[in-house]
Amino acid sequence: MSGSALRALVIAHSNIALAKYWGKADVAQNLPAVPSLSLTLDNLRTATRVTFDPALKADVASLDGAPAQGRPLERVTTLLDRVRALSKQELFARVESVNDFPTAAGLASSASGFAALGLAATRAIGLRLSPGQISSLARASSASAARSLFGGYAMLDRDAHEAEAVASGRHLPLVMLVAVTASGPKAVSSTQGMTHTASTSPYYAAWVEHAPRVFDEVKRAVLAGDFDALGRAAEHSALMMHASMIAANPAIMYFAPASVAVIARVRELRNQGRTAYITMDAGPHVKVLTRPELAQHVEAALLAVPGVQRIIACEAGPDAYLLDPEMDVQTALAQTSEHDTARHTPESRK
Ligand code: PMV
Repeated sequence: MSGSALRALVIAHSNIALAKYWGKADVAQNLPAVPSLSLTLDNLRTATRVTFDPALKADVASLDGAPAQGRPLERVTTLLDRVRALSKQELFARVESVNDFPTAAGLASSASGFAALGLAATRAIGLRLSPGQISSLARASSASAARSLFGGYAMLDRDAHEAEAVASGRHLPLVMLVAVTASGPKAVSSTQGMTHTASTSPYYAAWVEHAPRVFDEVKRAVLAGDFDALGRAAEHSALMMHASMIAANPAIMYFAPASVAVIARVRELRNQGRTAYITMDAGPHVKVLTRPELAQHVEAALLAVPGVQRIIACEAGPDAYLLDPEMDVQTALAQTSEHDTARHTPESRK
């Protein structure tokens, strides 16, 4: 079909929470039990094209070039069903989505994936929703995705339907070094992990009680442009969240030997006066926050840790945005990467 009016192509960037979300206030509506605050990252991208096509008898999707089936396809269809309900149209869609980083391994592919899908699907079908409304749509699929509609620092409050922008990345410039420590899909999905932690961990109630205070520290530090206060609070948030999971029965543990080795290296660097802090999500990779001027040194130190496969160096990324829908998704991703690298890479990392 020619129907360019029924197509849209979006680039969305993943985000990593500095104040973590773990636990649902409302499972059916997917509302978070704690407030979270994240940084959207320039070098973790998803390109997604949605085409609504009258010739289709069901939704079809490909993720990183392979046909989606089972749970991943169901999650795509659930979001598309919401878009069909909002637009009062019954067309099925073809979804093509590619990431430039490992999928479903604790690098928040669901965040950029559902943010991109939400914006692309609503635009393709002709809906003009506000960023907040699209954020709410993405949040229903993956709460962290609500934050990826916004560039820089963004937050999703406890019980909130939509995320909101907090500050631009320039407000507190930092480099996030993603130490990729293992390949393969994560063992426990975040939703399963949250439900299991809430129902079996004696520390879950303490996490839900204390997380808002750490969130306040993170938010204050971002607004004050205070890197050290942010790093300390972000590391506390991540380790407190993991402590609540480790206390679940049986324990949920996302740490690989190399994750622990990276954490130990970051503590050594700190003892030597090189300010760096860690955060970690539902996977074995460790994300290390550091000041832009220290990034090269810290990156070299992390690459020397046994078990670290590679480092993806990131800075603040932009809002999710639309591209020419006729472009090939891989080409769109590659061109965006080149463009962003040229635009963002500081002299020290070229
Ligand atoms: O939104 P989900 O289901 O992908 O869960 C995200 C959970 C963490 O990444 C561990 C924390 C966060 O706030 O992103």
